[in-house]
Amino acid sequence: MRRITVDGRRFAVGESDPSEDTHTPVMFVHGFPLDRRMWDGVADAMAGRRLLTPDMRGFGESDPLGSEPAFTIDDLADDVVGLAEAAGVSAPFDLVGLSMGGYVALSVAARHPDRVRRLVLSNTKASPDTPEAAAARRRVAEQTLRDGTDPLAATMTPKLLSETTREDSPEVVETVAAMIRRCRPETVAAAQHAMAARPDRTADLPSIASRTLCIAGDDDRVTPPSFLEAIACRLPRARCVTIPRAGHLAPLERPRRFAAVLCAFLDAEED
Ligand code: MLT
Repeated sequence: MRRITVDGRRFAVGESDPSEDTHTPVMFVHGFPLDRRMWDGVADAMAGRRLLTPDMRGFGESDPLGSEPAFTIDDLADDVVGLAEAAGVSAPFDLVGLSMGGYVALSVAARHPDRVRRLVLSNTKASPDTPEAAAARRRVAEQTLRDGTDPLAATMTPKLLSETTREDSPEVVETVAAMIRRCRPETVAAAQHAMAARPDRTADLPSIASRTLCIAGDDDRVTPPSFLEAIACRLPRARCVTIPRAGHLAPLERPRRFAAVLCAFLDAEED
C-alpha cells in the first residue's frame, strides 16, 4: 500500500507496479461502504499488470474526512483523476467502478473524457435516486452517525451477496460484514448524502466514446442485469456480460471469473 496526497488529502492506494508491464494502467473504484480490499481477489488474478486500488476519501485507510466531511460524487471523480496524475499515470487509463464506484467512473468519463481509455461499469446504474430512495439514504446516514456501523453491516451484507455466496462462502460473508463494520460512520453519512444528490447520467451516455464493458451479477438484487443492459444500450461502444452465481459484489464473490472477463475485454484488439 502506498500513501498518495492529492489536494492536501492523504489516500491509501493499493498498487502493483510490475516494471516490465506494457498494459495500460487500470484504476479500480470500490463500492459503498467498502474499501480497496474488495478488489484483492481480482488483483491477485491480474498479477503482472499495473493496477491502482485507492481507498476513496474517508474510506478504508485513507485519512478521515475531517472538519469538512461533505463531498459529492464529482469530488470523488476529481480525486480519481488527481490520484492517477500523482501516481505518475499521465496517459489515459482504464477505469473500473463498482456501484458507487460506477457513479464515480461515469462522472470521470463524462467530465474528464480525455483521461479514460476504456471504461468498466460493474453492478451500477446511470439513473439517480427516486425521492424515496434519497430519503431512505438520509435516514441511514442519521442512524449510522447515532448507532455506528454494526446495524448497517447486519442489514446490508445479505442484500449485497448472491444466494450462492451466502450459502457456500461464509468467509466472503464475514469479509464483507467486517469491511462495512470498519467503515467510519461519518464516511457512511457523507457518502449517503453524496449518492442521494448524484445527478442523472443517462443523458451523458451517448457521448461517452470510450469502449465500455458493463458487468452484472445474475443474482444482483440491488442493480439487476437489466440496469447494466440499459446502460450498455445507450453507450455507443459497449457490451454487457453477466456473471453467474454473483450478487451485487461480483468482483468479490467471483474474483477469478471477473478478472477473466475484464482481461478478455482489455486485451481485445478493438481500439
Ligand atoms: C454500492 O455498492 O456502492 C452501493 O450499493 C451504491 C448505492 O447505495 O447506490
